[in-house]
Amino acid sequence: MSELVRVAEIAGPPTELIFGDWYPALRAGELQEGKTAKALLLGVPLLLGRKTGGKLFAMRDLCPHRGIPLSAGWFDGETVTCKYHGWRFEPCSGQCREIPSLTSHETLDPTKIYASAFPCEERDGYAWVYLPAPGTGRVGEALPPVPEVPKFSEKFRSAHLVAELPCNVDHGIIGLMDPAHGPFVHQAWWWRSKASIHEKTKHFEPIPEGFRMSSHAPSANSAPYKLLGVYGESITTTIDFVLPNRRYETIRAGKRWFSSLTTVTPITASTCRIDVMAAWDIFYYVPFVTSVATFFGTRFVKQDQQTMIEQAEGLRFHPGLMLIDDADKPAKWYFALKEARLKGTGEHPLSGPVTLHWRS
Ligand code: FES
Ligand SMILES: [Fe+2]
Repeated sequence: MSELVRVAEIAGPPTELIFGDWYPALRAGELQEGKTAKALLLGVPLLLGRKTGGKLFAMRDLCPHRGIPLSAGWFDGETVTCKYHGWRFEPCSGQCREIPSLTSHETLDPTKIYASAFPCEERDGYAWVYLPAPGTGRVGEALPPVPEVPKFSEKFRSAHLVAELPCNVDHGIIGLMDPAHGPFVHQAWWWRSKASIHEKTKHFEPIPEGFRMSSHAPSANSAPYKLLGVYGESITTTIDFVLPNRRYETIRAGKRWFSSLTTVTPITASTCRIDVMAAWDIFYYVPFVTSVATFFGTRFVKQDQQTMIEQAEGLRFHPGLMLIDDADKPAKWYFALKEARLKGTGEHPLSGPVTLHWRS
């Protein structure tokens, strides 16, 4: 387990955010029973916590009475009490249970008052929060399934990585799907060298709200894949990008598998955080593989993080930007998918399978 260096919030250009979906707010392990923690998600301040019995909750961290953060108050494992005038709330529904100042002379029914509470579920060691689009319902509404790392056996190992990025979510996402930065940003003897750049052909196909890099044999020159080759089975990799922010990668070698879900989550309109959740049963019986994998993963993510910190320096001057064919084509698709989602047009940038070529 590793927590990467937290970056200061440098105000780069903001971007429009996609509400009405699930986002990972923080590690569920930070929430013991009866405890709370604060998080910022899509610019919304949250008070998360775990009730006695294990149920997670996520409230907007603002009292509906006079706006003081509820995190300034108290949580007894059942209800959250505001520090200012002691209004008491059931945190999963947000329902007010008590207004201490009321007397029998008043008719106000506290249970008709609600603080904002959002659906909150635990998956892959994260507390996921559903942030509704403004004006739509909250608790009780039919929601999309909570995202999860696909798993293909009962026993598996898992790890996660976190890195904050000082740029908006769009730059985080297109950096994540960018094939051309690998040989430069991730140049290392154990991974690949600049000299190994060669032409690649990749096949893509549309999937709902995203696109798939179709099953293919992984790059022969990438070390992690070489390690998997020891099983002597044919190896296939599938990489899906799905709105609003998810990259699923599945590697299968016979019965063995490695699977990851990487998300780029807006903290504010101009900052984001990358979370990598991985699970695998390859080398399941070799205990130290988790730490080795985490070490290499951490280095990899840190290289991306460092590059995006440097990029944020430049973005503060609002430069014009370019997207070229074919290496930046997935980035173009992302922007088109996002626009279709925000405008509700239902349009998809891919009408069928597409083959792209680039050197990396
Ligand atoms: S501000 Fe919270 S009870 Fe008054
Ligand atoms: Fe990268």
